[in-house]
Amino acid sequence: MKTNLGGNLKNSKRFFFTTPIYYVNDRPHIGQAYTTIATDVLVRFKKLANKKTFFLTGTDEHGSKVYKSAQNAKLDPQKFCDIISSFFKDLWKNLKIEYDYFVRTTDKRHEKAVQDFLEKLYNSRTEKGEPVIYKGEYKGLYCVGCEKFITEKELVGGLCPDHQRKPELLSEKNYFFRLSAYLPQVKELILKDEIRILPEERKKEVLGLFKQKLEDFSISRERVKWGITLPFDRSQKAYVWVDALQNYITAIGYGDDKKQFNFWWNEGEIAHLIGKDILKFHCIFWPAMLLAGGEKPPDTIFVHGFFTVNGQKMSKSLGNVIDPNYLQKKYGSDGVRYLLLTQFPFGQDGDIQEKRFIEKYNSDLANDFGNLVSRILKMVSDFYKGKIPEPKSYGSLEKSLIDHTENTKKDVFEDIENFRIDSATEKILKLVRKTNKYIEESAPWNLAKKNELDKLSTVLYTGCECLRILSFLFYPFLPSKCKRIRELLGFGSDELEPVKEYDKSWGVLTPGTKVLKPESLFPRISKEKVMEKKNEITFDEFSKLDLRVAEIKEAEKVSGTNKLLKLKINIGDEERTIVAGIAQYYSPEELLGKKIAVVINLAPAKIKGIESKGMLLAAEDEKNLGLLILDKDMKPGTKIH
Ligand code: ME8
Ligand code: MG
Repeated sequence: MKTNLGGNLKNSKRFFFTTPIYYVNDRPHIGQAYTTIATDVLVRFKKLANKKTFFLTGTDEHGSKVYKSAQNAKLDPQKFCDIISSFFKDLWKNLKIEYDYFVRTTDKRHEKAVQDFLEKLYNSRTEKGEPVIYKGEYKGLYCVGCEKFITEKELVGGLCPDHQRKPELLSEKNYFFRLSAYLPQVKELILKDEIRILPEERKKEVLGLFKQKLEDFSISRERVKWGITLPFDRSQKAYVWVDALQNYITAIGYGDDKKQFNFWWNEGEIAHLIGKDILKFHCIFWPAMLLAGGEKPPDTIFVHGFFTVNGQKMSKSLGNVIDPNYLQKKYGSDGVRYLLLTQFPFGQDGDIQEKRFIEKYNSDLANDFGNLVSRILKMVSDFYKGKIPEPKSYGSLEKSLIDHTENTKKDVFEDIENFRIDSATEKILKLVRKTNKYIEESAPWNLAKKNELDKLSTVLYTGCECLRILSFLFYPFLPSKCKRIRELLGFGSDELEPVKEYDKSWGVLTPGTKVLKPESLFPRISKEKVMEKKNEITFDEFSKLDLRVAEIKEAEKVSGTNKLLKLKINIGDEERTIVAGIAQYYSPEELLGKKIAVVINLAPAKIKGIESKGMLLAAEDEKNLGLLILDKDMKPGTKIH
């Protein structure tokens, strides 16, 4: 089979960047924010380098996982998807993510294009003349509780962790994709870097997968209700991953806008950014499907590592999932962007610790960068009435600093070409520190005292010009603050985004330009704020609480008191007794059958001679007490997060 791979793309002027599309089974978390921020930074650098870009992100909305979450929330699945998808959009707005298109897999446009693509595969043959898609038998472990097939890996002690139920071995008639026919070609393309998998270790990992048995995979499901109907068999839905991967082409016009599709997919350089959890789907299945459908495979897949939070795997059941909106409120959008990306080298696995956020924020942003901006602007304001002075002759200190700015710019863009985001930030920060050092060494305050005005104006012009260059280099990470710095430096509203400076070298600022009064761009996060944090509990601490849904089976007054009730509760696999001070607010009868929230991992306590194991949750003010009463359909024992 012949595929046009588009020749040498190294000098391509057009870039199509994508993030994974995220599941809407829950609110966005910082893992998803991480990939999206990284992609936004890369895209912004491309824009600074005068490249045309298209930045795609979105949400993955089909499949039984999402369907089940919607059921749990008692919402119609589409309504549920609309709500969660909008949380992602809101978050991206808060984090200044400048995507060009937000794809949703429940969009009619996407659904139609997926059907077109699958129809095409259905009518295609492999080189050997076999149908690309064939009907077969799918066997797997099926949990009736989840209404879905689950894998051996998902089981805990042989049981479905959500339903404590042994899955059944079921089979259904499904359609299969003939992956085997495309494996040699995909492997070859990866080996030749025509599908470039970065970093190198991940390429090795993918090549390793070819040594295992990679089987043809099922592309449809009979029992799944929430999905795209197969065009050639209306009794089946497309498997959620098959539907999801195609977002990368449906969003740019596959099936309905040939011109746009061609512009970005065939003539642009495609870069998928993903986490290592979804490497096989992107590096093997997706290229194979594209080849089968007669399309070009992606040029680059950058696979970054996973982070833990305070040393623990991030997971809902551990309760350590950090809400990115919380970080944004605390550190600002630019702060979160910078801090998330500088915790550990981009690409590798790492650990996120909030205490390091504060340190890094204060040292890099408040001290080094923020102070540099304000001290330079303050001197321009004090010594030159707020007008940028004219430089006279540059000495060796200036010459070396100017060289350094040129080299930094070159190196940073080279790093970005190679997705080395961490190395790029370090270099920019080094320029910040070098500029600070230059100001220290030239001591303009002394020059002013000694009335050495030629030198003074040169130093302050040099300082301002360095700020201008920093506002350009740091812009992809800190877009809001860099725009503000440029405003302070006297740039007009059409020059706040530094999009015209890539080809310019030293000396962009015009002497005589009026600058604004300095301001604190990155206010220090003070000790008090850190102290305040001591009253907050950490995610680790919170995650130790085991909160469950409990059903009240029996209730009676504890004799000899008028405050206490003795309750027998069912927490799924166990019955317990707890004693609670709610007798003045609830009668035993009205409590029977109620579903309440209980902390079950408290050390037992003896109250009036009765052993109480657990504590119920209630809201209380001076007058009233109200139990946290849960929906009557909630199953006893269900975890509460
Ligand atoms: O997998 N560290 O969606 P998803 C770093 N819908 N990145 C993390 C992370 C962590 N601890 N946790 C999550 C899906 N991520 C599919 C994708 S694409 C056609 C379909 C990031 O919501 C990382 O990018 O589970 C990972 O690949 C992605 O979130 C998974 O998001
Ligand atoms: Mg996931």
